Amino acid sequence: MKLSNKVALVTGAARGIGFALAARLCAEGAQVALADLDAASVTDAAEAIRRDQPDARCLPVTVDVADRASVEAMAAQVVASLGQVDVLVSNAGIWKQLAAGPFWQIPNSEWQRAFSVNTEGAFNCAAAIAPHMIGRKGGRIIFVGSAAIGEALAHVTHYTASKAALIGLMRCAAKQLGPEGITVNMVNPGQIDTGAFSREQLESKAQVKFMRRVGVPQDLEGIVAFLAGDDSSYITAQQIHVDGGGVMN
Ligand SMILES: NC(=O)c1ccc[n+]([C@@H]2O[C@H](COP(=O)([O-])OP(=O)(O)OC[C@H]3O[C@@H](n4cnc5c(N)ncnc54)[C@H](O)[C@@H]3O)[C@@H](O)[C@H]2O)c1
Repeated sequence: MKLSNKVALVTGAARGIGFALAARLCAEGAQVALADLDAASVTDAAEAIRRDQPDARCLPVTVDVADRASVEAMAAQVVASLGQVDVLVSNAGIWKQLAAGPFWQIPNSEWQRAFSVNTEGAFNCAAAIAPHMIGRKGGRIIFVGSAAIGEALAHVTHYTASKAALIGLMRCAAKQLGPEGITVNMVNPGQIDTGAFSREQLESKAQVKFMRRVGVPQDLEGIVAFLAGDDSSYITAQQIHVDGGGVMN
């Protein structure tokens, strides 16, 4: 139970990778706020964790990360209910929903949609939580990026660019928050089975990965639990690829 006495906030926690991360942080002893746009699903997600882990302390919260006021309200609700935030996992993102095609055919509205959730959403969450962490002289911010950056996933250039922008945010935030005892890192998943890809797509991508298997949300848990805890206190401004081998630093 490496995270007892910690409070974690995971965005996009109603399903997929965010749900797996929230469940793992609970299992490590943290109190966890699960935040998501989908109010009904995030309530179900918190109940599912409690069913599986009767001692789990988790709080469902509704938020639109793309909306600064909504994010500020989420931060206030979590601090009021759980007292503090030690760990922010900024995971909420859109990718399945985005139109694909050559970059010159991507409408501006679609470009802006990708950036408003994936980039501005992460910025909004970090900006809302950082002052609270500064006041407590410590914390962990973990952005969920994507191996798409290293792969140059060109059929979704808007998605890839929206995640690549997080590198700049992560580095600048790490530099400014380091003196406050706060680390900022980024975890970049490769293709992970969260229900959007066909079995054929998953298997064919898996064949070009060093590990030759399909990635699952649980593959992200270990590194996020590590980055959330005290053992990673001298690691900041780093990208860690969790993609079964392919993208190299
Ligand atoms: N699954 C993959 O292959 C993969 C690969 C690389 C990166 N990622 C990244 O990992 C993260 C999670 O991916 P996933 O596959 O679990 O996605 P998912 O679509 O299964 O789940 C995303 C969750 O985020 C929530 N969400 C979306 N927009 C939101 C908003 N504006 N405010 C609050 N919540 C919002 C959704 O309601 C959903 O519950 C995303 O940032 C994604 O870009 C995923």
